[in-house]
Amino acid sequence: MKKLVFLTGAGMSAESGISTFRDSGGLWEQYPVEAVASIEGYWRDPALVQKFYNERRAQLGSVVPNEGHKLVASLEDKYDVTVITQNVDNLHEKAGSKNIIHLHGELMKATSSKNPNDPNCIVELDENNLEIKMGDKAKDGSQLRPFIVWFGESVPMIEPAIYEVQKADILVVIGTSLNVYPAAGLINYTDSKCKIYLIDPKDVDVNPSLGVHHIMKGASEGMKELCALL
Ligand code: OAD
Repeated sequence: MKKLVFLTGAGMSAESGISTFRDSGGLWEQYPVEAVASIEGYWRDPALVQKFYNERRAQLGSVVPNEGHKLVASLEDKYDVTVITQNVDNLHEKAGSKNIIHLHGELMKATSSKNPNDPNCIVELDENNLEIKMGDKAKDGSQLRPFIVWFGESVPMIEPAIYEVQKADILVVIGTSLNVYPAAGLINYTDSKCKIYLIDPKDVDVNPSLGVHHIMKGASEGMKELCALL
């Protein structure tokens, strides 16, 4: 089976009603990114950051995967698929994808403020338990925090992601502005024989020598076109 790797970003979930970050009207226009998505911001005002992610988590209950997520999952019948996502939502899971690497964490998990990557401290949240409150404690006694990789923090899942990209016969990049590293650098780990597709309604700056085939459409329409091309 050929190895098909997806690298997805906020645009993947836009048609499900989740805001992207850098488009006009995007989340980083409404909230200062350094206040709500950096480790310094968290130490400065943890209650504000908890509130921001509690709101994002509350929204998750009412959103469903779009046609794009479903088509990504459907390709598992014919390919060995890995989905590497920068998204913290669970829409790839809900659509049925099996092998998912979350580079930037997961909204539906909480962890320790002291050792965020300690597996013993990572807990699942559910629809009856959507809020992290100040005073809620992780196993190690520290304040429970969102399991999100913030600016200024290491990205432990980048190593397994690189490993998958290196083995890819086909890489499909969907809905990411490729502004945030190390995720944006993954595309450079492809083998010279790997065919690279990009699905995004807008121009995205990529190394021209990679020969990327740009499908200039949204995630759902773009995935339909990709499925016809493959
Ligand atoms: P961005 O908001 O930077 O980029 C979203 C991309 O999606 C843009 O290229 C849009 O053109 C594209 N887009 C918009 N609508 C689309 C649609 N319907 N279908 C397909 N594409 C569409 O989001 P990311 O690149 O994902 O990290 O941002 C990367 C990281 O920056 C995020 O994971 C987040 C953020 O700060 C953290 O918070 C840690």
